[in-house]
Amino acid sequence: MTQTAARKLAVIGAGNMGNAIASLFVSNGWPTVLIDPSDTARANSRQRLLAALPQSASLLSWEAELQAAHDASLIIEAAPEVLNLKQGIFAQLEACCAPTALIATNTSGISINQLATGLKHPERFLGTHFFTPADVIPLVEVIACDHTVEAHIHNVMNLLRSVGKLPVHVRKDVPGFIGNRLQHALAREAMSLLENGVASAEDIDTVAKWALGIRLAITGPLEQRDINGLDVHHAITEYLYPDLENRQTPSQILSEKVRQGHLGVKTGQGFYDWAAPERKAALQQKDATLRALVALLGDRAGAQDEPSGL
Ligand SMILES: NC(=O)c1ccc[n+]([C@@H]2O[C@H](COP(=O)([O-])OP(=O)(O)OC[C@H]3O[C@@H](n4cnc5c(N)ncnc54)[C@H](O)[C@@H]3O)[C@@H](O)[C@H]2O)c1
Repeated sequence: MTQTAARKLAVIGAGNMGNAIASLFVSNGWPTVLIDPSDTARANSRQRLLAALPQSASLLSWEAELQAAHDASLIIEAAPEVLNLKQGIFAQLEACCAPTALIATNTSGISINQLATGLKHPERFLGTHFFTPADVIPLVEVIACDHTVEAHIHNVMNLLRSVGKLPVHVRKDVPGFIGNRLQHALAREAMSLLENGVASAEDIDTVAKWALGIRLAITGPLEQRDINGLDVHHAITEYLYPDLENRQTPSQILSEKVRQGHLGVKTGQGFYDWAAPERKAALQQKDATLRALVALLGDRAGAQDEPSGL
């Protein structure tokens, strides 16, 4: 983004992530347009954001056509995770947006280089991977494609800091970046444990939350290995690695649930029954609890605000 361009955000896709990203930027004073071809998505988004941020109503707008991004200084794409759909969106955006506009994708892990294929100006294209709920979780992974101008990465990281985020520069465009690689390794093992009858879903999640998760908020996996002792870790890897789940395809239990239409919270059934009153209540409390936790840990996150290698 140049110094002269007026700041304006265009969010492409007014779904789960698009709404949360818009909410974050609007709360920080950014005029924001949400662009989504679905009338229902725009109506839901309008209702949700105006209820949450009535004081920011004048900064928000909703449009169906990508052309509405023409005056945006920053565009964040949060459309469905489909390669050619996203590529089509970028091609259309290039045709209508300002030459100085930066185009970022919130892909969960599709290669940024692959997404940039076909762009006329890949130098202003990059990944900004937010974690859900994007208006609460501090971290954003920032990923360049081979052509992204380094100054744009630097500018976007500063801009993310200015709206209260903790950006991390992912130096290689690997599928899943950092967060989803770690998360999927854990989930693959969790599903394998469940499939093999080692413990119930509740007990597996309890171990993840109350042994690992609570510690992970303070010490990352590498810090924790240093604390435990690398010799101890090395000895464990020798007998444990051969036994860990390493399948290359989705686990059977996952495929079966998807086949049955048990997609989790969105259908009411997944590994848990989300229609149960106590689960509904826990879900409603989740974001408030996360906010409280982030507030508690806030100083720690803020202390790391100068990533190297920009
Ligand atoms: N949900 C998550 O936890 C999460 C986390 C990080 C990243 N992501 C990524 O963010 C992106 C969006 O995910 P989501 O969970 O918000 O999905 P979603 O299904 O909630 O929202 C997607 C929205 O895109 C709209 N859309 C469809 N075609 C479009 C088009 N051509 N132009 C503009 N909008 C279009 C849909 O109408 C929908 O409102 C995906 O790439 C996903 O992988 C999701």
